[in-house]
Parts: sequence; structure tokens; C-alpha cells
Amino acid sequence: MSAHRPAVRDDLQALEGYHSPQVSVAVRLNTNESPFGPPPEFVDAWVEELRAFPLHRYPDRAARALREELGHHLGQPPGRIFCANGSNEVLQTLLLTYGGPGRTALMFEPTYALHAHISRVTGTGVVAVDRRPDFSVEPAAVARHIAEHRPDVVFLCSPNNPTGIVESDETIGAALEAIGANARGLLVVDEAYGEFAPRSALGLVDGDRPLVVARTYSKVWSMAALRLGFCVAPEWLVAELENVVLPYHLSVPTQSAGRLALAYRDEMKRRVESLVGERERLVERMAVHPGLQIFPSGANFVLIRPPARPGEDPVDAGLRVWTGLLERGVLVRNFAAWPHTRGCLRITVGTRDEDDVFLAALEEVLGA
Ligand SMILES: Cc1ncc(COP(=O)(O)O)c(C=O)c1O
Repeated sequence: MSAHRPAVRDDLQALEGYHSPQVSVAVRLNTNESPFGPPPEFVDAWVEELRAFPLHRYPDRAARALREELGHHLGQPPGRIFCANGSNEVLQTLLLTYGGPGRTALMFEPTYALHAHISRVTGTGVVAVDRRPDFSVEPAAVARHIAEHRPDVVFLCSPNNPTGIVESDETIGAALEAIGANARGLLVVDEAYGEFAPRSALGLVDGDRPLVVARTYSKVWSMAALRLGFCVAPEWLVAELENVVLPYHLSVPTQSAGRLALAYRDEMKRRVESLVGERERLVERMAVHPGLQIFPSGANFVLIRPPARPGEDPVDAGLRVWTGLLERGVLVRNFAAWPHTRGCLRITVGTRDEDDVFLAALEEVLGA
């Protein structure tokens, strides 16, 4: 019998995976993680709890204790909270439930690449609309596109990755109104960086509105390795997600970490304040470079577009600066070749020391 390779689903053949190159360097400012590990006392308490757990038993399928305590922390009833393995699994479950063949998701580019990627993987049609050159999106344009395309899922990302822009209340309001007028669809506000921003859509979630706000433990809570995300949504919607997601998908170590981490909320709040301060310092220090474009950010990263030399293509300028930084031991995220972010690089806010290494490297590269 001859070995064969089964054919991948027709609609997945052109799909590329999600890649964020990892290079071994001294200063890694490319994946928007927290530069700080979790508090050691938290790790001790977590390991202690795991030691006592009967590992031959399945975890609590409904993650009740975690949802209870997270709900308390957020001022929301536990029935409005759905937890999963990273907010990526939250997004996937939403698309499995409300997207799928014959349905569409609307998004405003540039935005988080996984909104389109997971849509495609789940067979959901992607309607991608361009933002303005400054990466903002007008409330009227949001309403117009929702009215025109009648999507099943609308994604807004606030602060938006990779641009850093925080969506206005008007934009969120216009999206909800247009979805209401269609009597069809769901608004997903991806707030993976919401803690760093001056406003949030969390307060708009109620028992009726077709609104989901997704958040993660990967950034502020220093738990990217553990994979825990959640969303806040009406109870009827959470119940639908629970029907779709695999049983026992959330392991005991993950549930336990999510719950125990909440005891360190004051420490995390201080960290957010210090990272926001550090972001502002980075922006101020980068602003001295003539021609360097810096986009306003409400997140723990900043998007920049380095100046091109006379006759140089902006994409080549971005790549040149990215390479120059790498040669000096600093890895940032290269968005230079993306059609919507030509020539741009995204810098994750690091520790003060890491940021100083980046600033010195940038000065050298731009001055070269
Ligand atoms: C906008 C946005 N949403 C979701 C995620 C996924 O985060 P998680 O680690 O919770 O899956 C990321 C991660 O970078 C992100 O940037």
C-alpha cells in the first residue's frame, strides 16, 4: 500500500500559519508580554495548591471557583464570564459558535492578525476594511460597513494591536447601534491590552446587548506561559460558548493560577502604572529623532515608522532599522512588509534597562 498525504480542507490550502520569529537576543521587545515574571509568593502558593490536588480527577468543567473570583474582581456575575486557554481560544470559541460556513466576520485593518486567521480556520468569511492612514476608524464608517455587510461577528481591538489606538466610545456605540439596527451579529471588543488604556467597553456588557469583551492573563498578569484568557458577555452567550468548547479544556494548573493571581491585584496595578509611565518615557525619548513617526498608544507597546533615506522605500527603511537593532541585541516586531503598516516596527515596553538598551541602539541606527 502506498503512503499518501491526505488533502487539507480546500479552504485552508492557501492559509499561512501565525509566525512571530523568536531569535535568541539579550533584549526581547517583540511579543508584548510583561517584562516581569509573576510574584514569587504567587508561584509558591500555586505550586502548593497543585501538590494537594488529586491529579487523577478531571478539572471542574465549569471553572466555577475561577469565574466566581474573577467576576468578583471585575464586578460582574460569574455567569457572564467564560474562561479559556488564552484569549485566542476565547476568540476561536466565539467564531466556532457564531461564525462558520456561510457567515462573515468584519474587521478593520491593520489589526490583530489572528482575528482574520481564526475566522478562516473556522470557515468564517473575512470582510476586511481599511482604517484611515492614521489608523483610526470613524464611527460613521463602522456603522456604514456593518449596515452594508451585515456581518455575524464584528471585531474591534482596543487598544488595537499593532497600532496602539484606543477606540472611542463613539466608535463602540456606533458599532452596537448598527448591529442592533441589523438585528443580526455580535460585537467582540478584544481588550488584550485593556488594562493599559484609559477606557474600556467592559461597563457596557449587560444581560441583553450582543457585546463580548475579551481579555487575557498573558500581559498584565505575567502569565503568558500558562495560557489563560476570558471574556465578559451576557449569560445566554456564555452558555452557548460552554456548549461548543471541548469539555475539560481548562486544566487545573491554569484555573488555579488564574484564581490565585487575583490576590496580587494591587501589585499588578502598580506594574501597569509603571509600564504606562515607561511607555510615555519611551515616546518622549524617541520624539527627538527627526522624521521618526510615533503612533499614539494606549497599550504596552508603541508603533513607530523610521524615516527613510532619500530615495529609499519605507519598507526597506523599516527592515534596515529592524536589522540594525537586532545586530545590537534588540529584537522588536517587524511590521515593515505588511501592506497596512509599511515600514513600521512595534516596540514592546520593557524594563527601564531594556528600554535604555533599545533607545541607545535606535540612536546609533538612526544616526548611522
Ligand atoms: C489583540 C490580541 N488579542 C489576543 C491575543 C492573544 O492573547 P492570549 O495569550 O491570551 O491568547 C493577543 C496576543 O498577543 C493580542 O495581541
